[in-house]
Amino acid sequence: MRETVSGPALADLLRLLRSRFEAARDRSDAVGAEITAVLAGLDQIGTTPLAWQATDHPLIRSLPAALDLLAPLALEIADVLSRIGSDLPWRYGYAARPDQPGLEAAMGWAEIVGPAAPFRSDDVCFGLTLIGPDTHYLPHRHPAVELYHVLAGTAAWSAAGVTSLRPPGSLILHPANLVHAMRTGPEPLLALYSWTGDVISPSVWADESFDPVEPR
Ligand SMILES: [Fe+2]
Repeated sequence: MRETVSGPALADLLRLLRSRFEAARDRSDAVGAEITAVLAGLDQIGTTPLAWQATDHPLIRSLPAALDLLAPLALEIADVLSRIGSDLPWRYGYAARPDQPGLEAAMGWAEIVGPAAPFRSDDVCFGLTLIGPDTHYLPHRHPAVELYHVLAGTAAWSAAGVTSLRPPGSLILHPANLVHAMRTGPEPLLALYSWTGDVISPSVWADESFDPVEPR
């Protein structure tokens, strides 16, 4: 663990990520409504982040490949992440899975806004998820409403018995307690995520009876 002093760069990253949601805020569907809720929460946070600890999580080994995919799509975000991506508070919070050895080192998330994030909020979480190649983020659920925006990498996303390949630019909404899963192929996955509602209760592994189908 080490102290980092990249506050202005983190504020810049937050501004750039927020603009991704703002671009889709006028959608007249559940995604648009969720974006409106997320932006309302982000409006309440301060402009200067608290100091945070870089965690040196092993998943950052997948960051260079993710940024290679991201740069042609979102050069500004890729540029900021090339400077501070390794210093974000990456973590992994699930119970160990003996059936998936190494999973805790291959995936995780960095919360930028949230109850324990550099930008404090008890109303909204906002951050990045990074999943290394050939990794199965097993079925899980949480009471928070979750919205993902894929930044880089095409992965198989499963929910409600349907699995589909979702390319960069995709918006994927998970209502509260909906079981969902992701599986990467050769590419890593880098995605922006938000939580609203119960942002305190953690995500937990879901019932093993959930059986994602093959991508279609
Ligand atoms: Fe989730």
